[in-house]
Amino acid sequence: MLFGVENLDLYLVLGILVFFGLLEVIAGHLHTTKRTRSDWIQEMGGFFALSVLIKPMIVLSVMGLGQLLVPQYANLVGGWSLLLMLPFYLFPDDILQYWYHRSAHEYEWLWKLHPPHHQAEEMGFFVSYRNAALYYVLMPNIWWVGIATFLGAAPGVALGLVLKQLVIIGSHSTTKWDRILYRFPWLSPVTSVIERIIITPAFHYAHHGKSMKDGVSDPNGNYGNMFSIWDQLFGTAKFTRQFPTDLGLVNDPKEKWTAAYFYPIVTSENPESELARGYQKQDTRRMEPSDVHLEAGTYLWCQCGHSQNQPFCDGSHHGTKFKPMVFEVAKARKMRLCNCKLSKTGPFCDNSHEQS
Ligand code: FES
Repeated sequence: MLFGVENLDLYLVLGILVFFGLLEVIAGHLHTTKRTRSDWIQEMGGFFALSVLIKPMIVLSVMGLGQLLVPQYANLVGGWSLLLMLPFYLFPDDILQYWYHRSAHEYEWLWKLHPPHHQAEEMGFFVSYRNAALYYVLMPNIWWVGIATFLGAAPGVALGLVLKQLVIIGSHSTTKWDRILYRFPWLSPVTSVIERIIITPAFHYAHHGKSMKDGVSDPNGNYGNMFSIWDQLFGTAKFTRQFPTDLGLVNDPKEKWTAAYFYPIVTSENPESELARGYQKQDTRRMEPSDVHLEAGTYLWCQCGHSQNQPFCDGSHHGTKFKPMVFEVAKARKMRLCNCKLSKTGPFCDNSHEQS
C-alpha cells in the first residue's frame, strides 16, 4: 500500500516499464535490434524470474524468519513518517548494491554470475535484468527489502523501489533521456548537480562500454545503481557526458543462455569459457619485457597479469581488482613494455624484473 492505494507501487513500476518500452518501440529499437533469441530469453526470462519468483521468495522468507526469531522487532519503525522511512530503506539499499556490484567485478567467483549483464552489445531497459539467477539470490539489497519491510517500513520500501526502478530502467534504456541536458551548455550547472546525485544514462553506459580505449568507457568503474554518490565517495566515478558506441565484453565466449543463467548448476561446454567447470585464469606474466614498435594511438597495458596478449590488455582482468592502464603514443616509435607487472614506471620496463 502506498499513499493509501493498494498495490500502487506495483502499478507504478509496471507503468515505468511500459513507458520506457513504448519509447523504445516508437524510436524503432525493436526493428533495429540485433538481439538473438538467447538475448531475449535472458532479458525477458530474467525479468520474470526475478519479479515473480526470486524477489518475493526472499522477502517472504526474511519476514517469516523475522517473525520466528525476533518477533519483538516487527513493525518497529511502522509509526515513522514516509519522509523518514524512504531514506531509511533507500540509502542502505543503494550502498549495499554498490558494493555488491563492485565486488562482482573484483572477485572471480562473483564475477561468474555477472557476465550476462555485460555480454549485451546493445542497451535497452530489459538489460537491467540480465544476470545469473544466483546473482540475485545473493544480492544483499534484496534481503534488505525483506528486513526493512519486516521492520514496518513497507511504504518507504514501496516508494523507494518505484524511484529506484525509474533511475535504473532509465539508465539502461536506449532513450538516453539525459542527452537533452548536454545539448545546451547553459544547462551545465544543473546537469552537474543531477549527475552528481543520480545515475544518468551516460554515466551508466560508460560502465557497459567495451574498453577504456575510447576515452568514454570504464567497465571497471561507475558501479552505482540509483545514486552516483558512492562512486564519487569511493573513487570509481567517471563523468564524460558521452556515450560509448562499442558495448559488451572484449572476449565474449557467447555463452548459451542456460550456462549464463544457471551457473554454477549448469556450466559451459566451452573449455575456454570462464563458466567451464574447473576453469582457472592463467598467470601470463613474464620476466622478459617486450620490445614493440607502436603506431600513434591509444593502448591499454595489462596490469592484472592474465592477458593472453601481453603486454596488452585483452579483457581478462574482469573478476580481479585490476584494470588496464591507458597510454597514448603520439607518434610511431619503439618501446620496451613491462611484462612482469612490477615496474614502477608502467607501462614501461624499469628493469624491476631483474630484482625479483
Ligand atoms: S587483461 Fe586487462 S588488465 Fe590484464
